[in-house]
Amino acid sequence: MGVESLPRTLEFGWREDAEGVERFGMSIIDQRLLPDECRIVTLFTYEAVIEAIQTLEVRGAPAIGVAGAGAIALWAANQAHDVQPEAYAAELRRVAAEVSSARPTAVNLSWGVKRVARAIGAAVAADGVDDAADVAIACVQELAEADEACNRAIGANGARLLPEGSRVLTHCNAGSLATVFYGTALGVIYAAYEQGRIVHVYCDETRPVGQGVRLTAWELTQAGVPCTVQCDDMAAMLMKQGLVDAVIVGADRICANGDTANKVGTYQLAIAADYHRIPFYVAAPTSTIDPTLAAGGQIPIEFRDGTEVAAFEEFEPHVYNPAFDITPASLINGFITEKGVIRPVLREDGSLFDLHDLSRIAPL
Ligand code: MRU
Repeated sequence: MGVESLPRTLEFGWREDAEGVERFGMSIIDQRLLPDECRIVTLFTYEAVIEAIQTLEVRGAPAIGVAGAGAIALWAANQAHDVQPEAYAAELRRVAAEVSSARPTAVNLSWGVKRVARAIGAAVAADGVDDAADVAIACVQELAEADEACNRAIGANGARLLPEGSRVLTHCNAGSLATVFYGTALGVIYAAYEQGRIVHVYCDETRPVGQGVRLTAWELTQAGVPCTVQCDDMAAMLMKQGLVDAVIVGADRICANGDTANKVGTYQLAIAADYHRIPFYVAAPTSTIDPTLAAGGQIPIEFRDGTEVAAFEEFEPHVYNPAFDITPASLINGFITEKGVIRPVLREDGSLFDLHDLSRIAPL
């Protein structure tokens, strides 16, 4: 019981492959099987990681950021390479581009890939390819550790916002399973629960893939946090009945103006929270902020297969299945990051705020 008893979502280390050969591996929980089975699988190639990301075996913005970085480390450590630095660097660019485009919406994926590719690129330029694998491995291990530390800081910063005895509602899974460990929105919930600030959590089912019912409710139950699942279309009614004191969600990409992409359904939740005067918070690491995009309309939205929504034997309806939607900054009462909480302030030019202001937040 307790959050510390949860399994880690991603782990790196030397492991035996199917042929009994010792290789650098990335172990993940196969999240497609949860909650029925918590199976750990180990991946040894970057192609296997791309497939795991696309099939939602590993998912959630921070987790796919570290998994994407891990894909590059697997390529550097396990695959044969041209030892000429220019040829190596060109192949690295090709693999990095392929991994970064595995899913389009969460900016953390390309962020993680860039971090490790940059570290390898610098090592190769300085000393040739000999140490590239060691550099890549050290870099992903550092990123994995930093992710957990970041989530714990998000948790501590967010917990302070909640009055004692709060009941909160969350959408999708922004928990330990969506990160290396601990979670972002659920990180806030774990920290606040320990302090008595949260007494109950309402989990949106999160159609069509069911991250809320399959992952969040499972994870919270394992951690001993009291929770209830409702269908997505029941959230507004819970608010109307006075059962929700705050909404906390994660994010896949936050634009410079604060517009935020998160799991589809987040936008209607924010509208319902606004109508009922319930604070709506986004919890995310600063690596989820994309200052290169001015506003939400520029965020690439992933569309997924219609069979996720409707799979019948005799009938195949036309299906609309965006995996994410955009919540405008005007509906968000605060961004809970590892560096502090940013609250929207109306600026002279009429914009709510600019997340470049983040640089002014003193690190904890
Ligand atoms: O399609 P998914 O399951 O990867 O979507 C995940 C979400 O939308 C999460 O809320 C988001 O990535 C934040 S995870 C800390």
